[in-house]
Amino acid sequence: MPTDFRRVTLRALDESDQGEFLELARASAELHHPWISLPSDVREFREYLARYVGADEECLLVCVRGSGDIAGVVNVNSVIRGRFQSASLAYAAFARTAGMGYMAEGVGLVVRHAFERLRLHRLEAQIQPGNHASLRLVRRVGFRREGYSPELLFIDGAWRDHERWAITSAMVDIAPTAPHSTLPER
Ligand SMILES: CC(C)(COP(=O)(O)OP(=O)(O)OC[C@H]1O[C@@H](n2cnc3c(N)ncnc32)[C@H](O)[C@@H]1OP(=O)(O)O)[C@@H](O)C(=O)NCCC(=O)NCCS
Repeated sequence: MPTDFRRVTLRALDESDQGEFLELARASAELHHPWISLPSDVREFREYLARYVGADEECLLVCVRGSGDIAGVVNVNSVIRGRFQSASLAYAAFARTAGMGYMAEGVGLVVRHAFERLRLHRLEAQIQPGNHASLRLVRRVGFRREGYSPELLFIDGAWRDHERWAITSAMVDIAPTAPHSTLPER
């Protein structure tokens, strides 16, 4: 049996995570600003969770093996099926365990999950040019820079320019056992 060296696992966010998630998000506000904002109170947490329940989109927690500590969160957003089979990733580390390589591993697992289980073909990450930590992370995972879109996303009160990074299933040589039902035959 092959040895598994992974230090993290993925699991879906659920309502029992509310207390810990809010505490971690509050303690990480400085790390996250001005790039991303996570729920900061119970109402926002419930709205955030509701977005992912029963939807094609997913909110996955990156958890440290053994302790189960939540190291970060990765969202698979904006899933488009049909001829596109694409989604956007959003992610954040929590300050307690940031900079330890857990997020690179976690995003790598999400890429594998998205291609094998969700049967997507392409994942995109939109990143502001000044967000060096995020740019390093996607490079480490194997994304390629596809381009640059001025005023792409409304972040921290303004429309911000973003670099567009993406990875396809062919780039990591992962194919689903069967194509998604919405993919046309030709
Ligand atoms: C972007 C972000 C998620 C990166 O999280 P992180 O915890 O720093 O990511 P990682 O720990 O996986 O990788 C960072 C460092 O860990 C280091 N590391 C330490 N131990 C490691 C190990 N065993 N294996 C791999 N890397 C390791 C790596 O060298 C890496 O440093 P480098 O990128 O300077 O080379 C985090 O900075 C964040 O939450 N930013 C705010 C939110 C945000 O910007 N989201 C993205 C919007 S586009």
